[in-house]
Amino acid sequence: MSDLPEHVRRNRAYWNELARQYVTAGEEAWARENPTWGIWGVPESQVRMLPEDLAGKDAIELGCGTAYVSAWLARRGARVVGIDNSEAQLATARRLQHQFGLEFPLLHGNAEAVPMPDASFDFAISEYGACLWADPQRWVPEAARLLRPGGRLVFLVNSFLLTLCVPEEEELAATDRLLRPAFGLSRIEWPGTSGVEFHLSHGDWIRLLRRAGFEIEELVEVRPEPHATTRFPFVTLDWARQWPCEEVWKVCRRA
Ligand SMILES: C[S@@+](CC[C@H](N)C(=O)[O-])C[C@H]1O[C@@H](n2cnc3c(N)ncnc32)[C@H](O)[C@@H]1O
Repeated sequence: MSDLPEHVRRNRAYWNELARQYVTAGEEAWARENPTWGIWGVPESQVRMLPEDLAGKDAIELGCGTAYVSAWLARRGARVVGIDNSEAQLATARRLQHQFGLEFPLLHGNAEAVPMPDASFDFAISEYGACLWADPQRWVPEAARLLRPGGRLVFLVNSFLLTLCVPEEEELAATDRLLRPAFGLSRIEWPGTSGVEFHLSHGDWIRLLRRAGFEIEELVEVRPEPHATTRFPFVTLDWARQWPCEEVWKVCRRA
């Protein structure tokens, strides 16, 4: 614990505290046959986070939380491993594994330094997991190390535009004003919370991903359905229907 980077230690305590608020959503997502994504529950058919050919593939979820994404991968025939920094989130994940009769390995650790050999996986995924809470300068090269040549990494995070427009006050939603500079964005600590997030500009993502050995295949700007709902207060449907509040990066490990 003491040799973990400061942001990882802080996020561990933060997510152990927050875990109980993610139990119900985790249970509902485990029970869902067809995956939905992000804060608006956008259907898989719109964003295509999952490759078609998962059967028999080795997959890892980086920052799996309650591990419902891993469960969807396992049901599609992947040999999946989930890693998460929070014991409390993994406790929920383990309980849900028993409840749904679906077991796969869950590792307690930091996705910036995964205890698995090089080239262990064909597919890596993160939905608001390591891709938001781990340092991109560390977790992206680590994902590249873990993937075999031709392997795919897919992750979903808050859009860069939303990050520029979200007020610091927790209960307020994004407006159409830019509230912070775009240049130099990376680590963000929102007032009133003890968690540490990381947000990059598109240029910074592209440079980092390419330097780590990835080719960029697609950047999906996620748009919710007209009547979608969310439990999160930081963006309204009206905003999210006009501008992308989430984005999905799909990249491929260079051969
Ligand atoms: C929002 S949850 C993501 C899981 C799920 N997709 C969801 O949206 O509820 C964020 C998860 O990232 C995990 N996390 C944060 N930093 C991490 C790190 N460095 N390595 C692994 N997991 C991390 C947290 O413990 C938490 O369970």
